Amino acid sequence: MALLPILTAPDPRLKKKSDAVASVDDETRQLMDDMLETMYAAPGIGLAAPQVGVLKRVIVLDIDREDTKTGPLFMANPEIVEASDEDAVYEEGCLSVPEHYSDVVRPARVTVRYLDRDGKRQELACEGLLATCVQHEIDHLDGILFIDHISALKRNMILRKLLKARKEKEREEADA
Ligand code: NI
Repeated sequence: MALLPILTAPDPRLKKKSDAVASVDDETRQLMDDMLETMYAAPGIGLAAPQVGVLKRVIVLDIDREDTKTGPLFMANPEIVEASDEDAVYEEGCLSVPEHYSDVVRPARVTVRYLDRDGKRQELACEGLLATCVQHEIDHLDGILFIDHISALKRNMILRKLLKARKEKEREEADA
């Protein structure tokens, strides 16, 4: 396994639509394993392939590492096939939008269809944090970040701060 570098906004690769995987082969499994290790190290509860610069429809999730009953989830070609009318609000963050958080409204419950790490077709009913997380990660596959769900004013403020932080970091690295 290997740790992969995580892209941060603004980055054009985070705005691209990812391609479906033809099948879950060894290469896809390797990507899933590397993504999981990268997510745990960050640490985070979800990661989508475009966040590590791979434009494939692959996500990994683990909303509770202590809860060994669910464990990590690996999803290829995930698709929301059912969503509740009822909404829920969660304060979201993202490894690609470091140190910024915002309330996002999404359907409270969703059913997701996907291929698991063995390439087997699965369907999972999600609620609570898992429902939010799976929708957030699938958004990444369509080039959508959580900040795209909030006001343009707040989004642009966050993007400006991220750019400024990046420039400062580059300057520090150049001085070192
Ligand atoms: Ni994210």
